[in-house]
Parts: sequence; structure tokens; C-alpha cells
Amino acid sequence: MNKTLFAVLTALALTACGQQQAAAPAEQPAPAVEQAAPAEPAPAAEVATAPAAEQPAGEVDHVKARQDAFKKVGESMEGIGKMAKGETPFDAEQFKTLVADMQTAGGEAFQHFGEGTQGGNAKAEIWTDMAKFEAGRDQMVAAVTALNEAAQSGDMKVIGPKIGDVGGSCKSCHDAFKEKTN
Ligand code: HEC
Repeated sequence: MNKTLFAVLTALALTACGQQQAAAPAEQPAPAVEQAAPAEPAPAAEVATAPAAEQPAGEVDHVKARQDAFKKVGESMEGIGKMAKGETPFDAEQFKTLVADMQTAGGEAFQHFGEGTQGGNAKAEIWTDMAKFEAGRDQMVAAVTALNEAAQSGDMKVIGPKIGDVGGSCKSCHDAFKEKTN
């Protein structure tokens, strides 16, 4: 509400992603920059080619698919946060692309939480309280949709608070349903 945008961004959006620390403005270089998935040295290359949604259930590694998709969500969020803070120059078109990418990747991630896909850093509570998990998903979808609409204005004063809402939606779901990885 009255929180400053920067505080919100730093506190919510970036920590919620679980892997970025580089954006914190005045702090020393983070001593341990976490990589969320130790087993994957080069995640970005694989994400682009993953056609996971179309495949028959048994052949998809759902844990990996959702982690890869969430990684893209996190990368988009990082790019959004950097532009919001002026660490990278604000470019309305690029910003819209980041938001659209996040929307797509988020939709992708949530296709991989079906029955029997327990594992990774997803808490078991997801499958025992699916209604709450889905409410968290819907909260993010609504926040990202609102951000997408705000992004069309190209005006950071309009956009800023919506970024905070998105970051809050990441965090509240992670607090409830994601194992801490850092
Ligand atoms: C409704 C729940 C929910 C919401 C909303 C959500 N996440 Fe997640 N996220 C998860 C869960 C669960 C995992 C762990 C997945 C696993 O390891 O199987 C995860 C994992 C991640 C990861 C780690 C991926 C990896 O490398 O393993 C990142 C990054 C991430 N989320 C970013 C975000 C960002 C950014 C947002 C908001 C824009 C967000 N998430 C919103 C539930 C959510």
C-alpha cells in the first residue's frame, strides 16, 4: 500500500524468486549467490525448446518442467525489477515483453502440478491443500494480468505498484508451498 516501490521490489519480488541477490542496491556483493537448481549448470538453453505441455503425462518430467518454467518466471521478474529500479533503462516494449514472457512461463509452470507430480522443492501440502495452492496461483495470474494492463501505459508510476503485487503473490505462495532453498 504505502510501502515504497523499491522496498517492495527488493523485499518481495527478488527474494521471492529465490535466486537473485545481485539487485540489492547498496549492499556488498552477495557472498553466496544461490543457484536454485544445483544439478543444472545451464538452464536457460533448455527452457526455450521444452514442448512439455503437449506430451502424454507419463513421459514428462513434471518437476523439471515446472522448475524450468519458474526459472523463466524468475528471470522475467528480475528484468522487470531492474527496469523498475532504473538499473537498466526503462524500455516500454521490452518491459511488455518481460511481462508477457512471465505470464506465459507462469502458465506453463502451473500445468505441472497434477496428481502424482510431488517432488522437487514443492511441499507436499500442495497436494493436500490444492484449493489453497490454486488460490495462490490465481492470485499471481490476476496480479500479472493487472501488471500487463498497467504495462501498456508505459508509465512507471502506474506500473510500479502492480509489480509489488506480483512480487507479493510469489512470496505468499513460496512461503506456504515451496521449500526454502537458500
Ligand atoms: C501458487 C504458488 C506459486 C506462485 C504464485 C509462484 N510460485 Fe514460484 N514456485 C512454486 C513452487 C511450488 C516451486 C517449487 C517447484 C519445484 O521445485 O518443484 C517454485 C519455484 C520457483 C523458483 C525456483 C525454480 C527452480 O530453479 O527450481 C523460482 C525462481 C520461482 N518459483 C519464481 C517465482 C516468481 C518470480 C513468482 C511470481 C511472479 C512465483 N514463483 C510464483 C510456487 C509458486
